[in-house]
Amino acid sequence: MPSLSSLLSVLSLSSLALGAPHVVKRAQTVWLAGDSTMAKASDNTQGWGEYLKYSLSLPVNNKAIGGRSARSYTVEGRFQTIIDSVASNDIVIIEFGHNDGGSLTPTDNGRTDCPGAGAETCKSTYNGQAVTVLTYPAYLVNAGKALVAKGAKVIIASPTPNNPWEGGTFSYTSPRFTTYGKSAVSQIGSSAMFVDHGLYVANIFKTLGKAKVDTLFPNDHTHTSAAGAETVEKAFVKALLCGGGGFLDGFVKNGTASVEGACV
Ligand SMILES: *[C@@H]1O[C@H](CO)[C@@H](O)[C@H](O)[C@H]1NC(C)=O
Repeated sequence: MPSLSSLLSVLSLSSLALGAPHVVKRAQTVWLAGDSTMAKASDNTQGWGEYLKYSLSLPVNNKAIGGRSARSYTVEGRFQTIIDSVASNDIVIIEFGHNDGGSLTPTDNGRTDCPGAGAETCKSTYNGQAVTVLTYPAYLVNAGKALVAKGAKVIIASPTPNNPWEGGTFSYTSPRFTTYGKSAVSQIGSSAMFVDHGLYVANIFKTLGKAKVDTLFPNDHTHTSAAGAETVEKAFVKALLCGGGGFLDGFVKNGTASVEGACV
């Protein structure tokens, strides 16, 4: 039977070990900032961000939320929450566009951006308050630079297309957000990269054909079913892999050839 003093010394040793400073190194995390096309849904639609975890060996924290634009995501402090939470080498995927268009007049809906590709500003009134509205790229550059300052890597993606078959024949033209996203990436610098998600989704939708693609949009031309979200997610991964994987190189479970679609 061990003596009391030897028991005590074992206890104190183990409490020392427990109390010893040790750094808990969590896995690099992928953060998603976007709108309903990326967000977790609660109806018969789904956002593509919910499927990304299946293709990556990193945890994915989907902070996308329906109805948001680059502007409202900023003004509501949602980028700031991610900026405050990211650790060095985390990867933040930003994808907006569906709620960024429209006009500030006669009524500002709180989402529309100031038109333009640069440092233009618009004076507006939202909810009875005088506000200054920035351009789409300005919001992304501000968020991107703050994330990079925290050591994160930023991926800016072009928005998903609305059903490109809705007019009867296939039609997809890159929206202005594609150019804006590329411009934002070049302003943020080498810790940012662009993924032409919209183009890759459009190409896969073209191959699938109208009958199939129409079934992936159960309610309207913007929001996909769960199956549609999976297709849209795979298009993102394909675009990423075709570009060499970028900041997610080594963390994608799938080989380039095994993912549907073709490199552009
Ligand atoms: C990658 O493989 C996993 C199974 O390991 C699968 O769940 C996922 O959908 C695949 N991703 C793509 C983009 O094909």
